Amino acid sequence: MALIDTRELIKTYGVGEQVVNALNGVSISIDDGEFVAIVGASGSGKSTFMNMIGCLDLPTSGTYHLAGENVAELTADELADLRNRRIGFVFQQFNLLARTSALENVAMPLLYTRELEVSKDTQASAQTTTQASTQTKRLKTKKRYATKDERLAHAKMRLEQVGLGERLYNTPAQLSGGQQQRVAIARALVNDPDLILADEPTGALDSKTSAEVMALLTELNHQGMTVIVVTHEADVAAYARRTITFKDGQVISDQINPPMNSRSAKEPIHSGAQSEVKSEVKSEAQPGAQHD
Ligand SMILES: Nc1ncnc2c1ncn2[C@@H]1O[C@H](COP(=O)(O)OP(=O)(O)OP(=O)(O)O)[C@@H](O)[C@H]1O
Ligand SMILES: [Mg+2]
Repeated sequence: MALIDTRELIKTYGVGEQVVNALNGVSISIDDGEFVAIVGASGSGKSTFMNMIGCLDLPTSGTYHLAGENVAELTADELADLRNRRIGFVFQQFNLLARTSALENVAMPLLYTRELEVSKDTQASAQTTTQASTQTKRLKTKKRYATKDERLAHAKMRLEQVGLGERLYNTPAQLSGGQQQRVAIARALVNDPDLILADEPTGALDSKTSAEVMALLTELNHQGMTVIVVTHEADVAAYARRTITFKDGQVISDQINPPMNSRSAKEPIHSGAQSEVKSEVKSEAQPGAQHD
């Protein structure tokens, strides 16, 4: 089963008299464990697509299944919960809280995470086949990391994973751009997502720091994380194993990239960030496994 499956996604924005088809029939399937680059000219619909697959916005028409769930059928609470549990976001401008330590920035999303409990309605399934697929969904209010100490310990582990174990108490202003982006990646990882969505993660970084951030995302992908990166730069896209090109709200090409090691000119720069990634991304208990 694909992790991401979109069919004929259309997103129309109306501004005054003008109507913009930001997405114009996008059908894409992305499997668990892929590393995908999305490229295309400015205004081609890349961020709109990321917002759709990140469940930040709903399409005007078309369907989107995330891990088998039709997101259009979820309540607002269920959608927020699915987003929190499954997706980590990384943005061009890092979006860190300025006067807050790296540790507390990373721990922040854990405050808002709840468990979604899905239980089959066995009564209904005994009756008809249509009812058999009916599921009763219920949000549990319990936090995954109930105490502040638990949240900080988990955030610290994620910062160590991105090579920032020595910078826990620095505020963003006390960190370099690349370090700030690594804090943002640690924050994206803190809820143990299945998927990292990064929209221009290297857009505000110089080329050496970009290479470090991409090496980190590559390492996370090697450990099993699905990674989707929007970029304008061919060098950045080359880290991915598949490149999807958008033009005018449509996919105009979808290609497998040649392996990195066969492209000598684009060898990944072996960075500190890469070698500092230590623990397994998915080594921890999956949501719900221990805290029920
Ligand atoms: N909230 C909105 N309201 C109206 N139009 C929008 C909105 N968001 C995006 N658009 C329009 O939709 C189209 C696609 O925008 P989108 O942001 O997805 O492009 P993009 O490929 O991410 O571009 P860039 O590379 O510049 O970030 C553009 O024409 C844009 O002006
Ligand atoms: Mg964009």
